[in-house]
This record gives sequence, structure tokens and C-alpha cells, in this order.
Amino acid sequence: MAETIAIDGPSGAGKSTVAKIIATKLNFKYIDTGAMYRAVTFLALEKDVIMEDNDIIIKIARDISIDFSTPDKDGNVLVFVNSRDLTDEIRSVEVDNNVSKVASIPEVREIMLEKQRELAGNNNVVMDGRDIGTRVLPDADLKIFLTATLEERAKRRYYDLVEREIDIDMAEVEEKIKIRDEKDSNREHSPLKEADDAHKIISDDLTPEEVADRIISLLEGGG
Ligand code: DC
Repeated sequence: MAETIAIDGPSGAGKSTVAKIIATKLNFKYIDTGAMYRAVTFLALEKDVIMEDNDIIIKIARDISIDFSTPDKDGNVLVFVNSRDLTDEIRSVEVDNNVSKVASIPEVREIMLEKQRELAGNNNVVMDGRDIGTRVLPDADLKIFLTATLEERAKRRYYDLVEREIDIDMAEVEEKIKIRDEKDSNREHSPLKEADDAHKIISDDLTPEEVADRIISLLEGGG
């Protein structure tokens, strides 16, 4: 039987970094569901679609093909969208600012849900997002709710942007994360929510390696 790990939590909690470490260590497939909503958003922006035009966004979601490479030795995973490598493009500030809107469209979520389950198939998987334990993989073997304080999450995102030479200030990053948290937590359709049977981990004072080891130990029954 395939084993499944669901990791949910707000932006900047370290979900994808941790999930990639786990995927590499356990040789599991990694599925970054946030990247999927980002990919739809990127294509809509590229086509100059007005963000209020749900019909076109739903069509983009329906037609999109998304695939992930297996993590390389440094844990990097490439995101292929309609066979184009858009790994970096989907992390732009413009995508950040519009992705919550796209992710709030119920039809887009239904389409992504199908694609996420299809990608998981019968593989051993670690999947991260907002509604994985509550909706996409409700029978996951292990559910984690990974979070950190807003200040810590903003700091991480800020340094990530600085490294990519994007000019922005810390207060602005914090404000944007706060707005995105609110939108993701308060939307009507499958909002960000901790599953009743999830293990909560607060990552402020832990390294990604430490969080990954804790999760692996939980999977192996070590608590
Ligand atoms: O994890 P991330 O920051 O890359 O996610 C991008 C956006 O997609 C985020 O604002 C919330 C949304 N999202 C979602 O609604 N459901 C998921 N399963 C994953 C992400």
C-alpha cells in the first residue's frame, strides 16, 4: 500500500522545503499543490486575463498540464507547465498578489483536486498545500499542520526575495502575507484549516531538517 503524507499550513511556514527533504530521504514523490494554483495564475497573467474573468481562468485550469521533476541531490524540484519549465516564474510577486483570487474559484479547486489525486496515483507521496489533509487526501497516513509566527514567515519570504534580487521591504512582505493568510483562511470553498487528526508543528525555532526528521519519525510511529 502506498504511503501518503499531507502537509498543510500558511505561506512561509516551510512546507515545501520540508516536503522536499522528506521526499528525498524517503524516496517519495513530492507534489506542491501551491505551485499548481500558481501555474494557473501565471498563465492567466501572461495572457492578460482580467482576474475577475472566472470563465477564462477555469478554462486555463482545465487545459493546463503540470508536472514535477523528482528532487535533485540538493532537493530542487522543477515545475513544468504545459512542458515549459516555469519553476522561477510562478514565484513572482505578481503571482503572489493574484494567486489567492484564483485559488478561491470553486471550479478551479475541483479541477486541481482531480489533478492532484491523479498525480498522487498509487505512489508514495508527500503533498503540501492548504486543504490536503482536510480534502485532497482525507485518508492520508500522516497529516501535519506546519505553521510559524507571521513575523518569522515574513522574514523567510523577505530573504527569499532578497536572494532573488527582488526589491521589496520587510513591512510590505509581512502585510502581503497577512492579506494572503486572511483570504486563504476565510474563503468559502476548502479554506486553510487544520485537520482534526493533524499533528501541529510550529517551525519558528526548528531547522527544516529538524522538522523533516520529526515528521519521518511520526510516520514511522516514533511520535
Ligand atoms: O503554498 P503557496 O504559497 O505556493 O500557495 C500559493 C497559493 O495557493 C496560496 O495563496 C494558497 C493557494 N493554495 C490553496 O488554496 N490550496 C492549496 N492546496 C495550495 C495552495
